[in-house]
Amino acid sequence: MEPFSAANSATVTAGAPRVGAPGTTDRHVLVAVAWPYANGLSHLGHIAGCYLPADIFARYHRIVGNRALMVSGTDAHGTPITVLADQEGVSPAEIVERFNPRFQEQWERLGVSFDLFTTTMTDNHREVTGDIFRGLKEHGYLEARTTDQMYDPEAGRFLPDRYVEGTCPFCSAADARGDQCDSCGKTLDPVDLIDPRSKLTGATPEARPTEHLFILLSELQDEVLAYLESREGWRNHVINWALGFVKDGLHDRAVTRDISWGVPVPDDLGLADADSKRVYVWFEAVIGYLSAAKEWAQRTGDPEAWRAWWEDPTADSFYFIGKDNIPFHAVYWPAQLMGSPSLNLPTNVPANQYVTFKGAKASKSLGVGRAVLDYLEVFGADELRYGLTTNLPEYNDVDLTDGELVRRVNDELVATWGNLVNRVLAMTQKNFDGEVPAPGPLDEQDEALLATVDARLAAEADLLEQVELRRALKEAMAGAQAANVYLNAREPWQTAKTDRERTATTLWTALQAIAGLNVALAPFLPFSAAKLHGWLGLEPTMAGAGWQRPEVTAGTELASPTPLFAKVELPEDDAEA
Ligand code: MF3
Ligand code: ZN
Repeated sequence: MEPFSAANSATVTAGAPRVGAPGTTDRHVLVAVAWPYANGLSHLGHIAGCYLPADIFARYHRIVGNRALMVSGTDAHGTPITVLADQEGVSPAEIVERFNPRFQEQWERLGVSFDLFTTTMTDNHREVTGDIFRGLKEHGYLEARTTDQMYDPEAGRFLPDRYVEGTCPFCSAADARGDQCDSCGKTLDPVDLIDPRSKLTGATPEARPTEHLFILLSELQDEVLAYLESREGWRNHVINWALGFVKDGLHDRAVTRDISWGVPVPDDLGLADADSKRVYVWFEAVIGYLSAAKEWAQRTGDPEAWRAWWEDPTADSFYFIGKDNIPFHAVYWPAQLMGSPSLNLPTNVPANQYVTFKGAKASKSLGVGRAVLDYLEVFGADELRYGLTTNLPEYNDVDLTDGELVRRVNDELVATWGNLVNRVLAMTQKNFDGEVPAPGPLDEQDEALLATVDARLAAEADLLEQVELRRALKEAMAGAQAANVYLNAREPWQTAKTDRERTATTLWTALQAIAGLNVALAPFLPFSAAKLHGWLGLEPTMAGAGWQRPEVTAGTELASPTPLFAKVELPEDDAEA
């Protein structure tokens, strides 16, 4: 057994945050986000599970000046797509083509800032998939074998994994799917299900021999284990699950299927009758992270640009997924990459747990399905992002209610941050004609506020580097609280009557604090952050501005302020205690 290669084994450090100097660093950070099935838009649980966390993380890195590349796309080939296509009597490709632009619109409205959101239906993805499997074959990790697959005698065809259901051989749950058991999380082979039945006809499927390509995971086991043991800073629930799974013993698995919708099997891999088979969706969709980086590079006109994220051993890659995807990202995807030793293995897989709605009544106006676009009818995008970030299931399942989201927005975001900004801008308007006043000498209290904001920014950067997003947002909000305490102590509305210089110094200081806090909040609240930076005479995008408090220059004309956020009111039927 060869140890994994030098590039694959690059030391994992989260990378010191580059607090300070604006500009572009040479740190490359791949932000890889789970590919949603192309058969429907996202629910709140998906957004909190991976899309919002990935976006916060990418936006932070862009502000620092790091080179973030955030990619994903629709997963075109899973059973959910063929099921919907069958129901509607259209081709699976039509389903993908219908939903892909709708996803793009959803991301725009939510401010989820992909560098590329593509699909797995491209020629490029097909070619890159071929390359990955060729690498495995060259290293002796792929071979053709005759195996049993489930065949539905009534339908007269082999069944995709998810068309077979039965009892889990590991935990005895009654409703395990052929690919995975939701009760114990184990990935399954449909032929191992107890009492299997076909979802197509209800018939008992029979195992029939057919030839398929196998990835020799049993041979990769030591290498995958060494890889996992070399990781640092992983969430306990992710690393413990992955280590346990690998230590239980990895089994060779078929990576092709007898189906017609999927990535074609390259004909130089030694599989007989390759034309009638397709690559199994889970073993090609993950390859999308690499093919999307290549497609992005093509589109930017520098086709080699992807290498900086994938081949430079100092580059980092973070995979944002829900916990059901852990086996495929923390175990199988690294194993697949071991056939291509020049490519980087995942630095970290900060998988989230689930958002559940157990305690919530089915909500009439927002819909039982809880599609995120329905929420955007009631919540502004930043307001929704705030409510969700304070509830991210980073360590445990989180049971969410609409009432909780509303409370977070109204009682925290609007009350603490929105009002602070409004008060300071309105007082500057009133007392200094909307121009940033020149300060007199700062006293200890003024200096202390600015030092607090700077310290919160630094502490927040550490947490963001570790993908501790809830705690990172808390740091920023604690800074906003400190600014409110400062204002209440200095009472500029009182000093305005007696001491113009003191009032100028207080408002100047508060405006500097607000600018720093706006950087701290920008990854979470991108729409309002861009607006407020513009009002303050600062560059709205912040990209490469550095993770630091910018200076709001005395004499700057402030735009006349309008409220940054709207309080949320649920339609009456939805109000929850
Ligand atoms: N489509 C899968 C899901 O929604 C996720 C796939 S992530 C991938 O669970 F990387 F495997 F594509
Ligand atoms: Zn099970």
